[in-house]
Amino acid sequence: MSERIIPVADHRLLSTAPEVPDVLEEPDGLLQDALARPLHDLRISVTDRCNFRCVYCMPKEVFDKNYAFLPHSSLLSFEEITRIAKVFVAHGVRKIRLTGGEPLLRKDVERLIGMLSVLTTPEGESIDLTLTTNGSLLARKARALKDAGLGRVTVSLDALDDAVFKRMNDVDFAVSDVLKGIDAAHAVGLGPIKVNMVVKGGMNDQEILPMARYFKGSPFILRFIEYMDVGASNGWKMDEVVPSAEVIRRIGAEMPLEEIEPNYTGETAERWRYQDDGSEIGVISSVTRAFCRDCSRARLSTEGKLYTCLFATSGHDLRALIRGGRNDAELATAIAHLWRRRADRYSELRTASTTMPDTAVRKVEMSYIGG
Ligand code: GTP
Ligand code: 5AD
Ligand code: SF4
Ligand code: SF4
Repeated sequence: MSERIIPVADHRLLSTAPEVPDVLEEPDGLLQDALARPLHDLRISVTDRCNFRCVYCMPKEVFDKNYAFLPHSSLLSFEEITRIAKVFVAHGVRKIRLTGGEPLLRKDVERLIGMLSVLTTPEGESIDLTLTTNGSLLARKARALKDAGLGRVTVSLDALDDAVFKRMNDVDFAVSDVLKGIDAAHAVGLGPIKVNMVVKGGMNDQEILPMARYFKGSPFILRFIEYMDVGASNGWKMDEVVPSAEVIRRIGAEMPLEEIEPNYTGETAERWRYQDDGSEIGVISSVTRAFCRDCSRARLSTEGKLYTCLFATSGHDLRALIRGGRNDAELATAIAHLWRRRADRYSELRTASTTMPDTAVRKVEMSYIGG
């Protein structure tokens, strides 16, 4: 029997419009899923496009000129995004992160930021509004983002050495431009700024120490991320994962470290600080030490599908509800119904399993639902 080749783009078709129960309910901010996890964090992907082709995320061979990115008519409008976000905030969301692809490529993203920045919790507090970017447009846009009401940014940077960085982003983008972006964001007060480095063994792990030395004592919190088997196109292999314990060992051997308490329950990073100057780094161990137990993150794709796990194989089409004329009470009830049934804990199951994850099932791409 010949194997059926499924184009990567097809996972976007795997979605269903959520059921809207007859009895509507008012959000009380206390929603819990099937594993008693609250809903605190909403990540919104505002575009599936990116000007980088990072080898671990959007490899060139797959995301080439023939790749079918979403047409403009599929995207949620800013009004639709804000309407959905408002319902999530009523359900208990306290942090909204804009992602992509590269979110700064979405036209007029500042207007969306302005609309989201005025959302408040039922107690009247503002939400933590943040954005993950590759930094390429940050020097140009930092001031406008701040003025629009963005709270802070997290910048991805995988190496300090230009040749290594260019091999990672695969579009010849220089390190100095990202560093200028980070400095511009700092200058306008978009902090605390975190710098995320995905470590891919054999590719950029020699940059762990230079990156640690460079950011030590700076206002920026560097975090090392284990390369994950997210999506279906990066050809992930376990032996390319550098465990966080190894990252800490390498850095600690030169600059002694001590572990510190998490900032909040469910934080992705384990926090460490240098014993001499107290500056902080973090490690995100989604492969070797899964953090599903307290995962309170929901993800909204560019075209309005809700994913209850980064490793989900299908989403729930909220756009179908709003374009089908459902009101906010119906939307809120449908989301509550979905969240209560949520039992995802992919990374924990993978860690527990002695075999590889099931690659026969198509997982969604990170450039589509966002990191
Ligand atoms: P803070 O709000 O600053 O604490 O950010 P964060 O760590 O919640 O978010 P960020 O987007 O910076 O996450 C960093 C990286 O952690 C992502 O790029 C992913 O690689 C990984 N990550 C984030 N959320 C999840 C998740 O829910 N599951 C898994 N497996 N990995 C995640
Ligand atoms: N493994 C770990 N993190 C990833 N990201 C994208 N792909 C992967 C992967 N395979 C995250 C990185 C990057 C952000 C945009 O998404 O943190 O900085
Ligand atoms: Fe673009 Fe970020 Fe993916 Fe790199 S990791 S290809 S910068 S979305
Ligand atoms: Fe949450 Fe899924 Fe990531 Fe586990 S694997 S932390 S459940 S998004």
